[in-house]
Amino acid sequence: MWCNDFKKAFIGSELTCINAEGKTLSRIYLDSAASTLAFAPAQQATQAFLKYYANTHSSVHLSAKISSEAVAWAHQRVLSFFGATQGYSAVFQGNGATSPLNRLARGLSELRADKSTVLVSLMEHHSNDLPHRAHAKKVIHINIQDATGEFQGVDLIELEALCKAHQQQLNYIAVTAASNVSGHITPIYDIAEIAHKYGAYIVVDGAQIAAHAPIQLAQDNPQRSIDFFVFSGHKTYAPGSPGVLIGKTQLLDQLKPEFYGGGMVSEVSKFDYSVSGLLFDKEHAGTLNIPGIFMLATTLDFLDRVGMYSIYEKECMLTQYLIEMLQTIEGVKVYANTSNTQRIGAVSFNIQGLPHELLALILNDYFAIAVRNDCFCAHPFVRECLVDELWEIEDETQLPLYQGMVRASIGLYTNKADLQALEHALTCIVNNKAYYVSQYKLTDELHFVHKTFKLETQQYFNIEDTLTNCFSDYLSKEKISMYEQREEMA
Ligand SMILES: Cc1ncc(COP(=O)(O)O)c(C=O)c1O
Repeated sequence: MWCNDFKKAFIGSELTCINAEGKTLSRIYLDSAASTLAFAPAQQATQAFLKYYANTHSSVHLSAKISSEAVAWAHQRVLSFFGATQGYSAVFQGNGATSPLNRLARGLSELRADKSTVLVSLMEHHSNDLPHRAHAKKVIHINIQDATGEFQGVDLIELEALCKAHQQQLNYIAVTAASNVSGHITPIYDIAEIAHKYGAYIVVDGAQIAAHAPIQLAQDNPQRSIDFFVFSGHKTYAPGSPGVLIGKTQLLDQLKPEFYGGGMVSEVSKFDYSVSGLLFDKEHAGTLNIPGIFMLATTLDFLDRVGMYSIYEKECMLTQYLIEMLQTIEGVKVYANTSNTQRIGAVSFNIQGLPHELLALILNDYFAIAVRNDCFCAHPFVRECLVDELWEIEDETQLPLYQGMVRASIGLYTNKADLQALEHALTCIVNNKAYYVSQYKLTDELHFVHKTFKLETQQYFNIEDTLTNCFSDYLSKEKISMYEQREEMA
């Protein structure tokens, strides 16, 4: 019932665009795993809040108090959304999950300098792999394939054997809660139990799961509780909001501050300073992204009211439909995980014999369908999935064109009609492959461009026109055109 009503709550869900044949089409957004569309009511709530906006480092005046209350509410709201009210704190940092993951990798390697080893699964996004490689003395990658080379995710028996073998040096296990390539959901609570049994922490990359499935960081059995969980606001319908790190307070308390500056100190003299004893202050040097934090918490509040279990259920049904649909189209190959359960709605595929970039372009240019292509910042995993196909390519110059996939991913606004549109598009492409291929040429840099059609982005969003329009109530025509004159003189 609820899903259809939601579409119009998301900014950009009703976009139309002109395709390569000059037809106006409704844009279909299937790139939610990269960034979700913005939830308009949260933007509205944030606009309402902005009337009272002030810096939370001010404390006495009305707006400062309202801002401080909004941030305190948002902090609690984020924690309760992830079942982390008791003994957990949240830190808002950077633009997405990458920043807090770096913060943790550096902080934990400093905190436990005697523990040199980190276990990282082979299906990680680079943001949950490279920071550990950069800061830990040793990273061991956890296998994700079975004996036949088929994708299986993290095998708990193998993982436990690894932990046992490296017990003395093991600092933490870093694993994604859901893969951005295969959609596979990782058994994070089982992994937490294994990690804790061997004296290690668990760092969970929640970037792909936060908006799509329920998470309960504090478990009844504390051995199964998650130590650190990281996610991105822009993947939870709140672009413009920060990345978030949620961690056990007693562990976060032990980390040295990441940044130094205003707000994180209790006392500064000419010769010395003392870092604040309050975790929230210690972790937030400088001014917070207050509107972003508020908008994020507002969005999570909405998701909670809808219910994360029903969101997960609904998205599972759509994902099942998507996978089954893809499997019925001749020449389409779905990668790594074709199961319908224990997964989120990120599905990676290719059409045999068609470079991934070309397929994504055709979907955009002819069908107004937005998907992601390439390696999704998970090169080791994607290349592993493609290895057999790549071996079969005889002409080595063609290899780079096939080192990637196309990914369709869903969000709260996705409905069956969107997936049927993808089905229609893929069927047309498979049936008329030679025609579509002939419309493109390959550049020297190995990118495809349409021979006649050019995406006229200015036709949709022109920065100059937008500013002129927005400024017109406040600036005279002369002042607005002064800008144009300066541009001309430059
Ligand atoms: C699983 C996963 N982890 C981490 C990231 C990095 O997130 P961000 O770009 O928001 O820092 C992404 C982004 O796609 C992701 O999918």
